[in-house]
Amino acid sequence: MKKTETAKVISQEELASGIFSLWLENENTAADAKAGQFVNVYCAEKSRLLPRPISICEIDREKGRIRLVYRIKGEGTKEFSRLQPGDTVKILGPNGNGFPLEEAEGKLLYLVSGGIGIPPMLECAKEADSAGTVSVMGYRTADTFLTADFDRYAKCVISTDDGSLGYHGNAVQALEAAADTMMPEIIFACGPKVLLAAVKKFAEEAGIPCWVSMEERMACGIGACLACVCESVETDEHTHVKNKRVCKEGPVFAAGEIVL
Ligand SMILES: Cc1cc2nc3c(=O)[nH]c(=O)nc-3n(C[C@H](O)[C@H](O)[C@H](O)COP(=O)(O)OP(=O)(O)OC[C@H]3O[C@@H](n4cnc5c(N)ncnc54)[C@H](O)[C@@H]3O)c2cc1C
Ligand code: FES
Repeated sequence: MKKTETAKVISQEELASGIFSLWLENENTAADAKAGQFVNVYCAEKSRLLPRPISICEIDREKGRIRLVYRIKGEGTKEFSRLQPGDTVKILGPNGNGFPLEEAEGKLLYLVSGGIGIPPMLECAKEADSAGTVSVMGYRTADTFLTADFDRYAKCVISTDDGSLGYHGNAVQALEAAADTMMPEIIFACGPKVLLAAVKKFAEEAGIPCWVSMEERMACGIGACLACVCESVETDEHTHVKNKRVCKEGPVFAAGEIVL
């Protein structure tokens, strides 16, 4: 069983309004981490008992570091944004399954993500041994983040809801437009449920294999409480009902496995 680890804060910077990048050092976590997994981050303030699940954005195995990119949502993430280099934080992970990078080998891979679903795609872009990678990233406005990082590993297609940068529309509309000239052979997606549902529909209609990373509110974050279940097509072996634990069997599922 995994135990809680102490991670040292290496750096913290604000990438866009309310979006922070945090590099943490912990050798065990970095050594085991895979693209698409997440860590449970604990608050120092004891009234905030439950850990906050945050995806692993980047892994530096040589230096024993992981990068988290998160949006301030409530008190927990606000507390994280005050962490300074040299501080320590308790983490548990890596948790969940991660993206099946081996499925993308030699194929044209599309990473389709929106908002705070964008960060976990960076390590996928970095590690995929694909025939080419296109990262379609949906933002609300031109106040974007991580685009320069993605540029190093993938052809980037940016969309904004307000049309202030890139394609005017959402990430799924941008995916459809890009696919007109270069059809994906495999898709990995992460973002709000409405984005995942639309990507799943696109992939099903086009006959393209697709994996989606789900986000549900979590409590234990390690498979013990069933707070995080999503509806599945098949009956689950663990619960004997049609659901899957996002923190344990997920967060990444073959799109056909779950109901969106
Ligand atoms: C698998 C997974 C990966 C995630 N990766 C990222 C990421 O890379 N970057 C990022 O910014 N956010 C990510 N989130 C969302 C992040 O966990 C929440 O924004 C965060 O827990 C909010 O905590 P808070 O105390 O600031 O907010 P509050 O709303 O005050 O949180 C109250 C409680 O609800 C839980 N909670 C609230 N929103 C969520 C949520 N969306 N998902 C799960 N639990 C929630 C909190 O953990 C906490 O226990 C991820 C969520 C999941 C499930
Ligand atoms: S959060 Fe407890 S089982 Fe997933």
